[in-house]
Amino acid sequence: MSLEVIILAAGKGSRMHSHLPKVLHKVGGKEILRHVIDNASKLNPEKIHIVYGFGGNIVKDTIGGDYDYVMQKELLGTGHAVLQALPNCRHDSKILILVSDIPLITGETLNALVNSFGEKGVAVLTSVVEHPSGLGRIKRDASGKVTAIVEDKDCTPEEKLINEINTGVIAGDYESLNELLKQVKNNNSQGEYYLTDVISLACEKNIPVSSAVSANSKECEGINNKIQLAEAERYYQKRLAEKYMTDGLILMDPSRVDFRGNLEFGANTSLDVNVIIEGNVKLGNNVVIGAGCVLKNCTIADDSVISPYTVIEDSEIGKGATLGPFARFRPGCVLGEQVHVGNFVEVKKSKLANGTKAGHLSYLGDSEIGENVNIGAGTITCNYDGANKWKTVIGNNVFVGSDTQIVAPVTIGDNVTIGAGTTVTKNVEADNLIITRAPMRTISGWKRPEKKK
Ligand code: UD1
Ligand code: CA
Repeated sequence: MSLEVIILAAGKGSRMHSHLPKVLHKVGGKEILRHVIDNASKLNPEKIHIVYGFGGNIVKDTIGGDYDYVMQKELLGTGHAVLQALPNCRHDSKILILVSDIPLITGETLNALVNSFGEKGVAVLTSVVEHPSGLGRIKRDASGKVTAIVEDKDCTPEEKLINEINTGVIAGDYESLNELLKQVKNNNSQGEYYLTDVISLACEKNIPVSSAVSANSKECEGINNKIQLAEAERYYQKRLAEKYMTDGLILMDPSRVDFRGNLEFGANTSLDVNVIIEGNVKLGNNVVIGAGCVLKNCTIADDSVISPYTVIEDSEIGKGATLGPFARFRPGCVLGEQVHVGNFVEVKKSKLANGTKAGHLSYLGDSEIGENVNIGAGTITCNYDGANKWKTVIGNNVFVGSDTQIVAPVTIGDNVTIGAGTTVTKNVEADNLIITRAPMRTISGWKRPEKKK
């Protein structure tokens, strides 16, 4: 039987107190709904249907993708939501229904539920929790068979004590779900059409009811408010850190690092505390990332040492680099091998070839710098004339003295030496020394002005 997935994402999430629909809040840098889609995709469903509503097209526009988006115009409950998408499903398929606010459920757990019944039946994924308050409770008969789900707001005091809950994941074959959902009524405390009522209705109609219990209640926890959002974030980070460590990454403290994207790494590579990884980051072998570094969409080749509080974005760092502490790479930097960029150096859209060094306090923007160049402290590429950006080209083996301003556009040839304090305003041929510094004068017997009484 083929599988189709319906994701319920029309709710507002009022407890989030946000103008943004709940499902667009992020865990590990990725929207909650995108997590749910990715988890469902692990089962290779034929089609994914997404029921949206609150916030209008913002959910659709943000997530995009090749999914069947179905608008639920009025939020009349989870059962009503499923009925909006069900007509778009094949009549001979199994349907897996996911609430969109449990983002961390694994593919294996979802698979266990889908495989808990054959051609016909409905099934619920349950979890045993310490604090069931707010969640639908699972009722079982003496033989252990699930007979009903009772929503928290409809529970008797005895039912409130049940600590096995509905995770919000329900599956069934199309025919059974279609038949049962049409009979769901809204005579409950919230006046909603509950999806969860299909369980008791199935028992009445002798449609098989099965269940799977999640082995890990943590992965089934829903996000309804900002506290649960933060808890989900911590759990997600812990799980990812453990996976990366299992694969060989060294984490100085797995509870003090944040992964908000995809990380690839080689052997013997380590991250110190408070490192943030965003987007796609690729680290080679023997790479050392110091405390507090923020790495976003970058590659860092083997044997590089990135000292604390260095920020690198959309850049490629060659082998054996020594960067930071406190260095900043804005988008578009490409560094060759054995490049050194030290503290308080900002580099933007620049190429630094092999062996080049910029040790201290400089701005290098829109520049192409050759091999073995020494950039003295306080060097500024003046790339902006107030209207346009211009390029600086520096050849190989150039020595740039401290406190040099290079007014772009300008090209400096190989082996040029620039004296400290020079303002470069014209192209320089190879092998020359240039200097614009005024000669030093000595005025002897100079008296400093005195403060007036
Ligand atoms: C739901 C379950 C509850 C379960 C809990 C697990 C029902 C009736 N209750 O409760 O048994 O323990 O999830 O987290 O199913 N939605 C729509 N359209 C609607 C209403 C809701 O698309 O008209 C979506 C929401 O966006 C959300 C999901 O359905 O993603 C669940 O809705 P929510 O209001 O969070 O239900 P809970 O009260 O948490
Ligand atoms: Ca919920």
